[in-house]
Amino acid sequence: MARPAARFACTACGALHQKWTGRCDACGAWNTIAEETPLGTGPKATAARGRGIALTDLAAADDPAPRRSSGMAELDRVLGGGLVPGSAVLVGGDPGIGKSTLLLQAAARFAAGGLPTIYISGEEAAAQVRMRAARLGLAQAPVRLGAETALREVLTSLDAERPGLAVIDSIQTLWSDGVEAAPGSVAQVRQVAHDLVGFAKRRGTAVILVGHVTKDGQIAGPRVVEHMVDCVLYFEGERGHPFRILRAVKNRFGPADEIGVFEMTGAGLAEVANPSALFLSERGHPAPGAAVFAGIEGTRPVLTEVQALVAPCPGGSPRRTVVGLDPGRVSTILAVLEARCGIPFAGLDVFLNVAGGLRVTEPAADLAIAGALLSAREDVALPPDLVLFGEVSLSGALRPVTQAENRLKEAAKLGFRQALLPAGTKAGTASGIALRAMTDLAAVAGEVFGAG
Ligand code: TYD
Ligand code: MG
Repeated sequence: MARPAARFACTACGALHQKWTGRCDACGAWNTIAEETPLGTGPKATAARGRGIALTDLAAADDPAPRRSSGMAELDRVLGGGLVPGSAVLVGGDPGIGKSTLLLQAAARFAAGGLPTIYISGEEAAAQVRMRAARLGLAQAPVRLGAETALREVLTSLDAERPGLAVIDSIQTLWSDGVEAAPGSVAQVRQVAHDLVGFAKRRGTAVILVGHVTKDGQIAGPRVVEHMVDCVLYFEGERGHPFRILRAVKNRFGPADEIGVFEMTGAGLAEVANPSALFLSERGHPAPGAAVFAGIEGTRPVLTEVQALVAPCPGGSPRRTVVGLDPGRVSTILAVLEARCGIPFAGLDVFLNVAGGLRVTEPAADLAIAGALLSAREDVALPPDLVLFGEVSLSGALRPVTQAENRLKEAAKLGFRQALLPAGTKAGTASGIALRAMTDLAAVAGEVFGAG
């Protein structure tokens, strides 16, 4: 017998359910289950044939409209080389991280570069935005400003003005009268994004949507519209740290994983052209627990310092506090050190951190994480002119990673003279860095730290 069609779907994660429940067991969200009309049974399901669509050749030559440069190199890079006309870009991030500041600055730059630009704020009154612009020294920029939350009004104005760029701050404050739900709910955010993306494609206006990331689930996060837009950028950083990272997590027009680095100053966001120098600027005397990782972020090499602290745990289960790295990856490396190198971390609290607030996701960071952990545990400082990179497998073997030459070149530029890396790495000799190639983590523990 055929299974009965699922009739209910979660509006947050899309999971299908056989019956209504208060909480979605797939994503844990409350009050998000809504009844769905099974496919083909809705009022529009008729047997009438469509008119068909016009098909073209893949090789058809139409000139792509040129990308627009913002004049902010860090932003242009993350966009894949500038803003594509008619594209829809989502900029997500925690409240207060600096999204409005970044986009007001970007809007001013685009406008000053000759792109007619409209900035719609649903969060602040026009006077507040003007005040911020004045503080940023942008009061004279030819940006047109609107404060409105009704999507219908916004779309009518955009249709009339036909700007080259519209910034919408934020999608969670706009509401569509076609949806019976509160502003910020999943249904509203989806509808608003859908209509604005449709407008972008129809009129060739680039649309940048701001979306707040929320932890409490009171309003829908930007995730629910990620699939609708061409480009998803996340603005990250830590409170109390001035550095901000704009990271492309999806880009239909360029490489994903590209980052732009900014510093929040009293006069807005300043671009950081040389992130490695910045992330390493706080390095003091060589101290146990610090290891410099030669990483790649997008297309650019970036050096960061992985810092570890290992301390006796007074009792109970030991702590594993990890900031800026994947905690799962860290657990794996701790297990490998224990099982393959005979270096136990049981009964020890472990704290790991990436200096400067960067989030490192590359597997190539494994060796730097292991190096920082070993250095902290054995109380042996690594040489101050040493960088590390390489992947650690479950057997404890070190595996080569890509772009070794780029990593080494960047390290050489910043004054590093030696590198610890997996045997078999295609590194060349151009960088002039002395290479210490190792086959497995046990060798690193024994030869570098005299442990194991
Ligand atoms: P904002 O852009 O309003 O954040 P979001 O739109 O992501 O919620 O940024 C708010 C923070 O930025 C606020 O805490 C103050 C700080 N800030 C500066 O440090 N310098 C500046 O020039 C500006 C405009 C803001
Ligand atoms: Mg804001």
